[in-house]
Amino acid sequence: MASLSAARWLLLLTALVAWVDCGPRYTPDWASLDARPLPGWFDEAKVGVFVHWGVFAVPAWGSEWFWWHWQGERRPEYELFMREHFPPDTTYADFAARFTAHDFAPRFWAWLFQRAGARYVVLTTKHHEGFTNWGSPVSWNWNSVDTGPHRDLVGELGQALRERNIRYGLYHSLLEWFNPLYLADKQNGFKTQNFVFSKTMPELYDLVLRYKPDLIWSDGDWEGPDTYWNSTSFLAWLYNDSPVKDTVVVNDRWCNNCSCHHGGYYNCADKYKPGTLPQHKWEMCTSIDKRSWGYRSNMQLSELMDESSIIADLVHTVSFGGNYLLNVGPTKEGVIVPIFQERLLSLGKWLDVNGEAIYASKPWRVQMENTTNSVWYTSKGSTVYVIFMTWPDSGVLKLSSPLPSPNTQVTMLGFSGMLKWEKAPEKGLLITLPNVAPSVFPVQRCWTLKLNGVE
Ligand SMILES: *[C@@H]1O[C@H](CO)[C@@H](O)[C@H](O)[C@H]1NC(C)=O
Ligand SMILES: *[C@@H]1O[C@H](CO)[C@@H](O)[C@H](O)[C@H]1NC(C)=O
Ligand SMILES: *[C@@H]1O[C@H](CO)[C@@H](O)[C@H](O)[C@H]1NC(C)=O
Repeated sequence: MASLSAARWLLLLTALVAWVDCGPRYTPDWASLDARPLPGWFDEAKVGVFVHWGVFAVPAWGSEWFWWHWQGERRPEYELFMREHFPPDTTYADFAARFTAHDFAPRFWAWLFQRAGARYVVLTTKHHEGFTNWGSPVSWNWNSVDTGPHRDLVGELGQALRERNIRYGLYHSLLEWFNPLYLADKQNGFKTQNFVFSKTMPELYDLVLRYKPDLIWSDGDWEGPDTYWNSTSFLAWLYNDSPVKDTVVVNDRWCNNCSCHHGGYYNCADKYKPGTLPQHKWEMCTSIDKRSWGYRSNMQLSELMDESSIIADLVHTVSFGGNYLLNVGPTKEGVIVPIFQERLLSLGKWLDVNGEAIYASKPWRVQMENTTNSVWYTSKGSTVYVIFMTWPDSGVLKLSSPLPSPNTQVTMLGFSGMLKWEKAPEKGLLITLPNVAPSVFPVQRCWTLKLNGVE
């Protein structure tokens, strides 16, 4: 009797230790996977830089969809571009040798992204063209180690980012436009999975085991169902047994019906911009070059986002509880052109002063002033931040949403001293802005007020 009971205790104890040790086990279905709480670092990070880099930087024309527009859709302007710029019979594969990356300086990139205020960086490890920016053993020679740069681009950038404590995200396309195995599966109505089992899955596992990413930014999901991609099985492994199971964050592009419904945080569509506060953590991805994610040598200044629109987008996104992922496309040599550097650095300069209202903030009870979209709110505990885009001519900013109390205190980030305020006639408060030369302020646009003691 006694020994049986001891054995039972031992069994119970073992089970308890296993339970404490492992946390919940996720099963390969969306109900289970969707219930996983998002690791906290992601919501606090708020700002990321997206990097679209691949063989498409060689033609550097149109967009990173060059190959598809040229030989998938056969758009006449692409056929003409090829005839005019490359010898006859040039194939897309021929471009790989010219993807030299000989100016790629990962430590400089990491410095630049940190100065931009990015707390995470997402690199295309493989775009829809299928070229892998690391030495994938299942990619034949269609990768950056066997051809082109002859370097492990994914690994080198990861190491430089880690030295600066910047989180590392890996973009990965499930589909490959012209992979014969993928095309055969597609012909079979996605009833066979030869491509998934010999390419997609081995590469996803390889990426996780080699580079231990903080984030997997999945894409290229839209043609096949989750049963084809086997994505729930991969995510269950990622959350239960992978080396990054406690910290890794994923997005929502895991099957033709997944986006905006399943996965980790939601991207929904590219450049998604909700009009009201979403109930689920989300991220807005957008690109400084409004017409492309990959580098284009023919881009015009008027086609780029300017500093004000970048900051306005960021503020809008963060007040609605989103993260902001801003893209640059490096050249085939690995240069981030100075105009992109300038945009990134000006964002960072704004964040140096106003970041307190952005990083680790939460949406407030109101997201923007009712009558205007030029005043936005964020919060931290009982502190409310007001970010305003236009300096009122009167020098007095009227806010109707915060309700003042006798203890209300108003300050301005980057400016020392209290600001005067009074109760507005109807509701809210009237704040007298500092009457000083603009040069006093460290940044010349989008200022932040900090309110304490308001409801
Ligand atoms: C695909 O998913 C099935 C069902 O969850 C699983 O049994 C199998 O091991 C998975 N295969 C791969 C290669 O991930
Ligand atoms: C996608 O979801 C919609 C709505 O839930 C459903 O009607 C449709 O059948 C789904 N499509 C696929 C391919 O699963
Ligand atoms: C916002 O303005 C509209 C139209 O002026 C008004 O109907 C609505 O009640 C206002 N909402 C708030 C929260 O003040």
